[in-house]
Amino acid sequence: MAFVPVVGSVNYKGGVGKTTSSRVAAQGFAEDISINQGKPVLIVDLDPQANTTRRWQLAAVSHEDGSVIPIPHDELAEATDGLSYSSVCDLWLDLLGAGSPVAPLAYPTSNPRIHVVPAHENFMVAASRMPDEKVPVLAARMVEWLRDPSLAEKYCCVIIDTQPTKSALIDAALAACTHVYIPFIPEPQPVDGVLSMITYVSRQAQNRGNDVPLRFLGLLPNRVEKNVILHKKTLRSLEDHPNFGRYLMPVRMEKRIGYAETDDYRNAPDQVTDLEGSNIEWEARRFVRYLWEQIKADLPALGHEVGA
Ligand SMILES: Nc1ncnc2c1ncn2[C@@H]1O[C@H](COP(=O)(O)OP(=O)(O)O)[C@@H](O)[C@H]1O
Ligand SMILES: [Mg+2]
Repeated sequence: MAFVPVVGSVNYKGGVGKTTSSRVAAQGFAEDISINQGKPVLIVDLDPQANTTRRWQLAAVSHEDGSVIPIPHDELAEATDGLSYSSVCDLWLDLLGAGSPVAPLAYPTSNPRIHVVPAHENFMVAASRMPDEKVPVLAARMVEWLRDPSLAEKYCCVIIDTQPTKSALIDAALAACTHVYIPFIPEPQPVDGVLSMITYVSRQAQNRGNDVPLRFLGLLPNRVEKNVILHKKTLRSLEDHPNFGRYLMPVRMEKRIGYAETDDYRNAPDQVTDLEGSNIEWEARRFVRYLWEQIKADLPALGHEVGA
């Protein structure tokens, strides 16, 4: 029995590149057959702000209050007794007072190798505020869904884009993740927050016992400006940090307009790895390969038979 690798992009701060780097990773995995083995990547939008959902054109506006809901799903469009759309919150419909829990349905996107489970703003806000005693239930459902061996047959990898606040929803996601990385901007204050997050993730990993492992893939410096002395200094002191230095990824994303330009799927190309021969292409590929090398090393621990 094999489990799909589940990678969380996490940082309790906003604007640090969780959504952008998770998209770059998904697009990178999706275009490399040696990584995906012909299977799509599944992105789960776990942020009520729904940026990933918008990026892949899966967002609609609720007539009731203007909040973001997913567009109707083809397989549910005719539904009369339930919701015509799906989101990750389908796992918790009973707790949300909206029906019986079911496994979320993924939506196809403009990229045949990328599927997305979109966000539902109000359900997610409600789920993220569930009292502490409900967190184990949220988590158990998420684990049950993502550990289903059929998911490993269907997808090469699941990537979870998370919200910029510590919440019950993130705790549930962390319970289901096999891998986590933290994008951050190399400036002193953000770094302090990041270090306490590493401690938190490590504790989660220890509490997991002999179950599927949770591995920390590292800190991804993002929006790096190589001529900014503060960035250089911050990165150097992090590198030299006795406890956390080893977590700094040997790859980074510099501040480049191409990351923002590809936030819109209508722009061509819509992924930075298609900007052939550019520094951004090269840098994004290094990041993608670095993530995958580590995930690949853990595939046997997830029950995958890895060929020579
Ligand atoms: N390396 C980068 N260079 C330039 N712009 C970036 C970079 N990384 C992210 N951005 C832009 O910064 C904004 C915030 O990034 P985002 O990935 O949405 O952060 P988060 O998901 O952590 O809130 C977005 O508009 C995105 O396009
Ligand atoms: Mg985001």
